[in-house]
Amino acid sequence: MADPLFHPGLTRYLDGLVPARPPELVAMEAEAERTGFPIIGPSAGHFCYLVARLIGARSVFEMGSGFGYSTAWFARAVRENGGGAVYHTVWDEKLSRRAREHLAALGLSELVTFRVGEAVAALRETAGLFDLVFNDIDKDGYVTSLPVIKSRLRRGGVLIVDNVLWSGRIFDKSDTSSNTEGIREFTRRVISDGDWAVSIVPIRDGLLVAQLMSPSA
Ligand SMILES: C[S@@+](CC[C@H](N)C(=O)[O-])C[C@H]1O[C@@H](n2cnc3c(N)ncnc32)[C@H](O)[C@@H]1O
Repeated sequence: MADPLFHPGLTRYLDGLVPARPPELVAMEAEAERTGFPIIGPSAGHFCYLVARLIGARSVFEMGSGFGYSTAWFARAVRENGGGAVYHTVWDEKLSRRAREHLAALGLSELVTFRVGEAVAALRETAGLFDLVFNDIDKDGYVTSLPVIKSRLRRGGVLIVDNVLWSGRIFDKSDTSSNTEGIREFTRRVISDGDWAVSIVPIRDGLLVAQLMSPSA
């Protein structure tokens, strides 16, 4: 991805600091590069892994999972937290199949449930509360996803949302496309809702991290 927001060497530098990872994960990064598929990449992936480890996440719901790269980072964290479940959701059957292959090669299949379909609907239909939700769906769907995510996250649980800086388009007032406006409105709503403690971490394309606070906080 182009890196107009930061020093051109920043993403390369941060990616270079990510610890050695399984060859299959590296192969997935190469596949994304070759096909132009937008994965979160090593430094954002490792950050997601770290957050999942920090909160001891055992149940993760991922929205907009692609061929399973971000899923692999969450599944590694959940395995190290003692095991649990990671939901992979994407509406493209072919990507879901590809993800199954990658997760199997990584030895992580047993932790992952694959759902083919629209991710917000899939989350709404899945019973239970999650420790962590990761949102990487089409950006014009972010606003609609928020109340559903809030209803499916346990108190103290964490929401991570990708692309909240949107390669700088977020600052461009002339950009009123549905995706850009979707990210702007989503960010406004989370920040103005006192139930969330929120920060934006400017790794790669911007990760919004929000914890759903207990009523007494
Ligand atoms: C940005 S890519 C996911 C990359 C993935 N999170 C990773 O880092 O490896 C988003 C994927 O989710 C799909 N998608 C977008 N909106 C969706 C939705 N509302 N429901 C299901 N899939 C969606 C897209 O077609 C695409 O395959």
